Amino acid sequence: MFAKINTLRFRFVKSQLQTIYFSLLIIAFLLFFSYSVFQPVWLTLESIFLFLSLSIFVMTPVSVYVGFKYGTPFKERLEAISVLISALAKGRYSSRILDSETGDEIGQITVELNELANKMQEQVKSLQRMADEKSEYAQHAHIAATVEERQRIARDLHDAVSQQLFALTMMSEATVRIMDKDVGKAKGQIEEITNMALQAQTEMRALLLHLRPVHLSGESLKTGLYNLIEELQQKCQIDFHVDVENIGKLSDAKEEHLFRMIQESLSNILRHANATKVAINLKKKEHDIYLHITDNGDGFNVNEKLVNKTSYGLKTIKERCEELGGTFTVRSQKGEGTYISILIPQ
Ligand SMILES: Nc1ncnc2c1ncn2[C@@H]1O[C@H](COP(=O)(O)OP(=O)(O)OP(=O)(O)O)[C@@H](O)[C@H]1O
Ligand SMILES: [Mg+2]
Repeated sequence: MFAKINTLRFRFVKSQLQTIYFSLLIIAFLLFFSYSVFQPVWLTLESIFLFLSLSIFVMTPVSVYVGFKYGTPFKERLEAISVLISALAKGRYSSRILDSETGDEIGQITVELNELANKMQEQVKSLQRMADEKSEYAQHAHIAATVEERQRIARDLHDAVSQQLFALTMMSEATVRIMDKDVGKAKGQIEEITNMALQAQTEMRALLLHLRPVHLSGESLKTGLYNLIEELQQKCQIDFHVDVENIGKLSDAKEEHLFRMIQESLSNILRHANATKVAINLKKKEHDIYLHITDNGDGFNVNEKLVNKTSYGLKTIKERCEELGGTFTVRSQKGEGTYISILIPQ
């Protein structure tokens, strides 16, 4: 109730009344003072009381009316400002105040608020433009990445599987031709064909490993890793040894990156190493996560292969590792297998 009465118009009325009553108090004091000190004949006690009563009676409603009348436009202008602020807060940036009185302080605030609304409207437009451009760029990047990935798969299929299938066809034809003449030689060639087919199959699996969905699909890194190895174990003639020590809960991004690095390393082993044994060791030591992947395969010249512009696997592992603030080391020698070591701070 009091809060309601404490409005701007009420304050105007109050200040009008205060001025009137204070003035009447001073006039009354002066009249009573003159009456008691100078005692002029024209001044009687009755006339003083009559004057004061009449003044209060007339001036009170007049000052209420005047306070109310002058308070109303201020109230309306402040209400317009309040409406504009809440419209801006709700995102209606085209709202403005059409106030013709610009000379006083409220008019100044109105002008500044309109300018602020103009700026906000422009900024929102430029933000929307940027968002549109960003999604366009993202679309272009996505298309480019898809095309690049397709080219990579096509190249890999051509380099590996398609070449092997071609060789298999040639060898099979040759075997058929010599079958009647030299059974022993034909038998040897069939064994070679079997090995080659097995190798092509492994290549194909490695390529599919590349194409697998990148996510752990909600599984923990440990579960995802064991599932992946179990699947590979059934399909490849490689002896996998996995050791995951209590690594605790890692962030989703870290688990995802580690899983992808393991996938790429395994894909390399399947495609290039001719390994019979692979060991994966994942452990936590103090505040760091260690990942070691070792194979007993053919090995390679690291310095030579790391600068190869058309290979991405090892470079991607390195980049992922650096993104997590870690370090990546690969040691390998022809005929002596490969050792990958990854350290990531937790
Ligand atoms: N474990 C490994 N054993 C033997 N050679 C390997 C091994 N890992 C990598 N290499 C050699 O290093 C090269 C580079 O590997 P990288 O993963 O960067 O490229 P890639 O596998 O040839 O192609 P992609 O870009 O499809 O991964 C391979 O071509 C291979 O010769
Ligand atoms: Mg690779």
